Amino acid sequence: MVIDVKTQRPYSVTIEPGALGRVGDMARKHKKPGTKAMLISDTNVFPLYGKKALASLEGAGFITSHFVFEAGEAHKQLSTVCDMYRALSEGGFTRTDFIVTLGGGVAGDMGGFAAATFLRGMDFMQVPTSLVAQADASVGGKTGVDLPFGKNLVGAFHQPMAVVTDPEALSTLPRHYFNDGLGEVIKHGCIADIALFEALEQGAALEDLTQVVGRSIAIKRDFVEADTRDTGRRMILNFGHTCGHALEKLHGFQGLSHGEAVGIGMVMACRAGERLGVTEPGTGERVKAVLEKYGLPTEDHFSKEEVVAATALDKKSDGDTLRVILIPRIGESLIRPMSRQELLSAL
Ligand SMILES: NC(=O)c1ccc[n+]([C@@H]2O[C@H](COP(=O)([O-])OP(=O)(O)OC[C@H]3O[C@@H](n4cnc5c(N)ncnc54)[C@H](O)[C@@H]3O)[C@@H](O)[C@H]2O)c1
Ligand SMILES: [Zn+2]
Repeated sequence: MVIDVKTQRPYSVTIEPGALGRVGDMARKHKKPGTKAMLISDTNVFPLYGKKALASLEGAGFITSHFVFEAGEAHKQLSTVCDMYRALSEGGFTRTDFIVTLGGGVAGDMGGFAAATFLRGMDFMQVPTSLVAQADASVGGKTGVDLPFGKNLVGAFHQPMAVVTDPEALSTLPRHYFNDGLGEVIKHGCIADIALFEALEQGAALEDLTQVVGRSIAIKRDFVEADTRDTGRRMILNFGHTCGHALEKLHGFQGLSHGEAVGIGMVMACRAGERLGVTEPGTGERVKAVLEKYGLPTEDHFSKEEVVAATALDKKSDGDTLRVILIPRIGESLIRPMSRQELLSAL
């Protein structure tokens, strides 16, 4: 399956079982043989798939080298990027060479950021291996790192030259991280695609990952194309995130994963929508049932007062107005501005 993304710099996402062995062929559509390719991966993913990706790149005539960083969000920081710059510099990389990011969202965000900034910008190809990276992060062009005082505070919009997605790689992804990605996949069904949602109700996330990843990324693509720099319509992608982010904060960003928090946040948003007469009654129960089907949590011990107090006003909001995303029914969504007080009474 190929999904075309038409941002300022168009590219395509190829989703295909076995695609990892064709990374080199895909790169040849953009780069000449003899070009240098730096594979950037982490200490979990490189031992699993590094050799295959490097062999494919070499087979296609590229001169390869690799940079492997310690796996985990804790290493998504400027010092790791600085080490990447050193490796690129010592390897004599120029602007016409390219980076290949192989791994989850951390490898993609950080390797993409190195590509966006080294020599003021070079090309990169994304080879996502986690569900978050395949079904969410590989479209949107956001790259970046965390700072000690906040997540994703430094970054750049930089589109990859191509994304090569192999759903078979998900077979080695630990369950916890798989579920984290599922939260966002279910969200994509809720806001824009009833067919995806129904497939998930039938168990598609365990049986037909090519379809699930493809549908999910196509939905994100549609929102991103309408709003590449994230100033308006893309906000719909925040469904479940108003309360979800608040829950993550209350948990000190530990224990509850982002996708799990978004799942609980979606159930809360449906409940609020139903009380406000915006959401068809029973929608929250349906969302809850899908989350339960895959073993994701649907509620939390924090009170609604605590959750509402922990909600953050987004960058675009004025005064005390939250922009809560509600779904009239599965597959449809809207932005509903409301005060914290209104949200609390709706919950
Ligand atoms: N750019 C965006 O639009 C965007 C969107 C969503 C999330 N993100 C970012 O993505 C990150 C979260 O993504 P993530 O969950 O992929 O994090 P991650 O890259 O840390 O991967 C999660 C864990 O799974 C391991 N892993 C990845 N693929 C594997 C595989 N196939 N087999 C075995 N192990 C594998 C990794 O080594 C890591 O330990 C966050 O930093 C978040 O900010 C970015
Ligand atoms: Zn999210």
